[in-house]
Amino acid sequence: MRSVTTDQGRFADRVALVTGAGNGIGRACARRLSAEGATVVVADLDEAAAGAVADELTGTGARALAVAMDVTSAESVDRAVAGAVDAFGGLDVLVSCAGGTFSHPPLPGTSDEDWLANLELNLMGVVRVVRASLPHLLPRRGNVVSIGSVNGLGSFGSEPYSAAKAALVNLTANLSTAHGPAGVRVNLVMPGTVRTRVWDDQPESLAELTAAYPLGRAGEPEDIAAAVAFLASDDASWISGVVLPVDGGLMAAGPLRRRGA
Ligand SMILES: NC(=O)c1ccc[n+]([C@@H]2O[C@H](COP(=O)([O-])OP(=O)(O)OC[C@H]3O[C@@H](n4cnc5c(N)ncnc54)[C@H](O)[C@@H]3O)[C@@H](O)[C@H]2O)c1
Repeated sequence: MRSVTTDQGRFADRVALVTGAGNGIGRACARRLSAEGATVVVADLDEAAAGAVADELTGTGARALAVAMDVTSAESVDRAVAGAVDAFGGLDVLVSCAGGTFSHPPLPGTSDEDWLANLELNLMGVVRVVRASLPHLLPRRGNVVSIGSVNGLGSFGSEPYSAAKAALVNLTANLSTAHGPAGVRVNLVMPGTVRTRVWDDQPESLAELTAAYPLGRAGEPEDIAAAVAFLASDDASWISGVVLPVDGGLMAAGPLRRRGA
């Protein structure tokens, strides 16, 4: 475990790559890690969004770099990770956040294409980024924090999304077991409903869902970023293979409450 003085921040000597960092939860993670001293690689499909976040971070005097990355393409992921390592010499933290939902009916209405699109983004997207990053995390005893969803722990609609996020639980367990002996930690954060742009066109659904949360509000991206920063830091140096709901108490509540009843 490397020691870090408090005034320098928990990530003062660390390089962190955050996928999906152009918006929402990923952007909040990039900001938080940067504020705590990390050099941040801001990776996103949306190059303009990634560039804006990297500019914001460098504007505070921090080190940051925007990279274009499509997590549904192994070639794109490999190229972006190689670019990050070239720029900063290695990787200490991977936050695998890129993901999202697609609109489709429940089974039997979902096609193979619906399923595969969800699995490509939400499961294989994580697999590709972890695969490309591990050779760089291993020599620095780095760590991975992936972003799942409470939808991977219970049924909140979208079977393919739910199944993809649930698969991250076992991926996390296997990766943490395989790479723990080399000092690499792997953890998974499961957010509840978080106020990002994905809810912009569904204010009624957001309000209805919020009623189900024991803590009485939806999450903010910063709520998730705080948990990610903890798990990625040396404060969590004996925590690996953990699945952490960050959900305002939702999963602990009874099923009727969870349904907003
Ligand atoms: N917002 C919520 O309520 C909520 C709840 C639970 C889990 N999550 C999860 O949190 C993560 C972030 O969600 P958000 O609400 O911040 O979404 P968002 O849309 O605000 O941000 C997602 C970012 O990912 C990027 N992205 C999309 N496809 C990509 C790809 N193929 N390659 C690289 N980048 C890509 C987008 O350009 C965007 O910048 C997702 O994995 C989502 O499933 C969100």
